[in-house]
Amino acid sequence: MTPTESIVLRAQAVFTPNYRQAPVVLVRGLGSRVWDAEGREYLDCIAGIATCALGHCHPALVETLERQARELWHVSNLFYNPRAVELCEELVRGSLFARRVFLCNSGAESNEAMLKLARKYHADLGHPERHEIVACTNSFHGRTMFALAATGQPKYHHGFEPLVPGVRHIPYGDVPALEAALTDRTAAFIVEPIQGEAGVFPAPAGYLQAARELTRRRGALLCFDEVQVGMGRTGKLWGHEWDGVTPDLMSAAKALANGYPMGAMLATEEVGSHLTPGSHASTFGGNALGAAVALRALQLIREALPNALRVGARITERLDALRAGGRVVEVRGRGLLLGVALQGIEAGAVVSLARERGLLCNAIGEAVIRLAPALTLTEAEADEAVEKLGAAIAAAPAR
Ligand SMILES: Cc1ncc(COP(=O)(O)O)c(C=O)c1O
Repeated sequence: MTPTESIVLRAQAVFTPNYRQAPVVLVRGLGSRVWDAEGREYLDCIAGIATCALGHCHPALVETLERQARELWHVSNLFYNPRAVELCEELVRGSLFARRVFLCNSGAESNEAMLKLARKYHADLGHPERHEIVACTNSFHGRTMFALAATGQPKYHHGFEPLVPGVRHIPYGDVPALEAALTDRTAAFIVEPIQGEAGVFPAPAGYLQAARELTRRRGALLCFDEVQVGMGRTGKLWGHEWDGVTPDLMSAAKALANGYPMGAMLATEEVGSHLTPGSHASTFGGNALGAAVALRALQLIREALPNALRVGARITERLDALRAGGRVVEVRGRGLLLGVALQGIEAGAVVSLARERGLLCNAIGEAVIRLAPALTLTEAEADEAVEKLGAAIAAAPAR
């Protein structure tokens, strides 16, 4: 039995069976490369599903983590620790709207905090009837109950009902539908600047601006879920910067600490001040290890933005050329979050064939390949990724 077979068998005997993991055991990473238990090397173009934005084991982050590990790990929220304060200051500095930050550990948790706060804000203002959340079909906001209820994909709801009441879904990008859905019972509209898990669909031009105007006019809060598109993924620090609008609340996670679990909810002063003492918490929120890494990651991600834009444009252009083969119908996305829409072949088959050729990417549904490599991907690596993906697409059996 190979080391891989042995670990996969042991995993299957002990893990809850909720993941569909590839039969690959990754044991080491550096930059955009990872190695498996058999010593095979891969170009990682999914990077922990858009978490390792600076690649694997970035030397500066390793140094930061090691230094912090020797100093202080965690003190809980009974006390202050300087790293958490520095991180929140930096997040506020890097935002055009936020003055308050709540730190947590994941995307779902940051969305949970965001939706809870939206309700509490209106309740505090004397309007508990304003408790409804408007969200989009095909959205993805996480697996905790409120985030799950906001997630507009019924396949994730099955078996977990009853969901949190008061959430309604409207088609993404549909301004009249949003206008009709916002009422004097609406607490907030939650939306992704690019729908990631739906298949990488950027918001249509003008949609987020319209959402800003309509929510303001109707007295509802605007919440951006930046878990996947934030932290430089699109070539700007936050995805909504492309649209020139700011929300009242925003969630972040994934790349925030480059793969170390970390989430954050950012809020305006007016709204954030309503998360009053005792109203919400997270035991590990703001832990010093994660905060130290996130602080350094923020700085390095800012430096990597020009590369993300340049390499993103190059890889998009080259992927676009694959359309000539007839199996790629569209290349969507922004910066280094890309969706390659396929026809006539299975995305899952393409992912397996790409892996055999030394490229890691993932399938969204049956017809989309997602690429979310490190923002530090080089041009040569981008070309290698396109070549390997092109070969996998060509080799996939017709369905
Ligand atoms: C837009 C968006 N929101 C929320 C989440 C949930 O994040 P987590 O898995 O860290 O809870 C994800 C995860 O893919 C996401 O893409």
